[in-house]
Amino acid sequence: MRLKLPVYTTQIDDLGSRTPLLFIHGFPLSRALWEPQVIELSDSARTLAFDLRGFGGADPVPGPWSLDDLADDCRAFLDAVRVTQPVVVCGLSMGGYVAFAFYRRYRARVAGLILAATRAGADSPEGRAGRDKMAALAREQGAGAVADAMLPRMFAPRTYTAQPGLVERTRAMMAGSSVDGIVGALGAMRDRADSTPTLAEITVPALVVHGADDQLIPVSEAEKMQAGIAGARLALLPDAGHLLNLEQPALFNSAVADFIMKL
Ligand code: MLT
Repeated sequence: MRLKLPVYTTQIDDLGSRTPLLFIHGFPLSRALWEPQVIELSDSARTLAFDLRGFGGADPVPGPWSLDDLADDCRAFLDAVRVTQPVVVCGLSMGGYVAFAFYRRYRARVAGLILAATRAGADSPEGRAGRDKMAALAREQGAGAVADAMLPRMFAPRTYTAQPGLVERTRAMMAGSSVDGIVGALGAMRDRADSTPTLAEITVPALVVHGADDQLIPVSEAEKMQAGIAGARLALLPDAGHLLNLEQPALFNSAVADFIMKL
């Protein structure tokens, strides 16, 4: 379904009832990332997903913009679908960075946090330089070149041979992103705040979920988040890389359903 937000028009999924569960996708992906979750988990929650600006079926929005702007888009999405009660926010990677920004800006609207394949820290100087190089690649050669550059590290090594169809579909999802979306998101991630001080301020239940074979964000980052958030649980999924919810949907969904049930 298409939905008009204040800044852009997007595509959304809104299924089920009960506790609202907002999914925020990673980079350079779309809400299609959550395909194995939105239907499957709609027995446990009202599953909500939308395309961030410039990704999937959303309108491109020329940058620069910030992760705070994306957090505001999340709030606008919830307002538009009339979700007023606190939601469980589940962000993967860049979606996790947005989840931290959302928590800082709208903490009264957060019932719980699921931090998937993400990290609290900001970019290192090398990481920031890498963002600029990737943005130049996107401008010069398009989204397909960015997809090709990132694809070899998105999954656990084993997934490339065990699930080649999944790898191909994911490449298509990445290559379908707009250059405005890619360049805007790279700038927003490059300039994002360090969320490490936020960890100690998190007072809602939190689940940290990470692939044991994540090649982009090491498991140690998940362990640091768990250690920094009072009472947080850590689920480490075997045979899963950065896109753990696609690689191990049954394990991911049961960790999420269990977390929601105990809220
Ligand atoms: C993502 O998967 O969202 C990004 O790769 C995260 C990042 O580049 O920091």
